[in-house]
Amino acid sequence: MRKNCLKYFPDLSILNSGVGGITIYDLNLILQLIIFGLFLIGVYYVKGRERSLRKHRLFMGAAILLNAILIFLIMGRSLLTYSGLIVEKFYELGPSITWVHAIVGGLAEILGVTFLFKHSRKIRSWMRMTATLWTIALLLGIAFYIYYYIL
Ligand code: HEM
Repeated sequence: MRKNCLKYFPDLSILNSGVGGITIYDLNLILQLIIFGLFLIGVYYVKGRERSLRKHRLFMGAAILLNAILIFLIMGRSLLTYSGLIVEKFYELGPSITWVHAIVGGLAEILGVTFLFKHSRKIRSWMRMTATLWTIALLLGIAFYIYYYIL
C-alpha cells in the first residue's frame, strides 16, 4: 500500500486491493513493460536492419493506443484520486516523482498521438524527442513503483 496515503485517504484501501495479491498497479507496470517492448520493435523498424515504415507505424500505433487506455483507466484515475496529496506535498520525493512523471508521460503520449495523424517536416527530431520522453516517463514510473510499493 502506498506510503502515507492510508493516513490521508483511509477509504482508498478497497480501491487499491487487487486479486490474488496482484493490484491494478502491478498490472500497469507489467503492461507498461510490454508496451515499451512494442515501442522498441517500432524503433527497430526505422533504425534497425529491416526497415518498414508500415510496421513502424503499426507497432508505434499499438503502443500509443494501449498506453492511452492505461492512462485513462489506471494512471489518470490514480492521479485524480491522489491529486490532493500531490498538490499538498508537491515538494516531497514521492509526489515529485508522480507529477514530473505525469507531465513527461503526458507530453510523450500527446506527441505520439500527433505523429500518428500528422506528418511534420522535422519528423525525425520530433520522434527522437518523443522516444526520449517516453523512456524518461517509463523510468520515472518504475521509480514510482519502487518508491511506493517496494521500499
Ligand atoms: C509514456 C507514457 C507513460 C509511461 C511509460 C508510464 C509508465 C508508468 C509505470 C511503469 C508506472 C508504475 C506502475 C504503477 O504504479 O501503476 C506508472 C505509474 C503512474 N503513472 Fe504513468 N506512464 C505514462 C504516462 C502517464 C501519464 C500521462 C500520467 C498522467 C495522467 C501518468 C500517471 C501515473 C500515475 C499517477 C502513476 C501511479 C499509479 C499508482 O497509483 O500506482 N502516467 N506509470
